Amino acid sequence: MPPTYQGLGITYSMNAGETISCSGNPPEDLLNEIYGVELTCFKDPYPPRLLLYYVRLAPDLFIVCRSGEKIVGYAIGVIENYGRTGHIVSICVHKDHRRKGVGRILMETLEKLFIEKGAIEAKLEVRVSNEPAISLYRSMGYTIANIYHSYYSDGEDAYIMIKSLSKTRNVSPRYIS
Ligand SMILES: CC(C)(COP(=O)(O)OP(=O)(O)OC[C@H]1O[C@@H](n2cnc3c(N)ncnc32)[C@H](O)[C@@H]1OP(=O)(O)O)[C@@H](O)C(=O)NCCC(=O)NCCS
Repeated sequence: MPPTYQGLGITYSMNAGETISCSGNPPEDLLNEIYGVELTCFKDPYPPRLLLYYVRLAPDLFIVCRSGEKIVGYAIGVIENYGRTGHIVSICVHKDHRRKGVGRILMETLEKLFIEKGAIEAKLEVRVSNEPAISLYRSMGYTIANIYHSYYSDGEDAYIMIKSLSKTRNVSPRYIS
């Protein structure tokens, strides 16, 4: 069954009958709740003013997924490199909602939007110790292109991972009933 469109978003039927709705352009008054999810993801969370900056910079690339009214995850993208590169700035799934496919949905949604905007590759940075995220990115075809030493404020290195988008124009979501 294809995903059902609700307004500007897409609704996914997950395993166990849960429904996840994902869309861009979050209203700014959602940022407090998004920040609450951010706190479950990172030891160095983005402050609300930085989340606001990204909502205003590229609202359609700020994707929020909800289960009912509750926010379960979000991802931020921007287009860089004269339109060639879609940069996944952040991705976060609430700790109570992981391993259900939300992270993959967020990644696929951003990749689809990057392609629509003409980008030919996606890139991201990830802590070298972040095995869950690296595993997700590898499973989606990202490879390590570089390492930035002491990239994070605590001194940890980052992998730069990239993926060509030229062969993923028909990306279709998994987890659809
Ligand atoms: C990384 C993150 C976004 C993954 O979100 P998620 O919704 O749990 O991921 P999914 O359920 O879509 O997982 C998709 C695949 O990623 C891999 N994966 C995800 N979590 C994993 C884990 N803890 N260990 C190993 N592999 C993992 C698996 O291949 C998984 O497929 P499978 O469940 O069929 O085995 C989530 O763990 C998170 O928000 N972490 C904290 C924030 C963070 O580190 N963000 C990345 C910053 S660069």
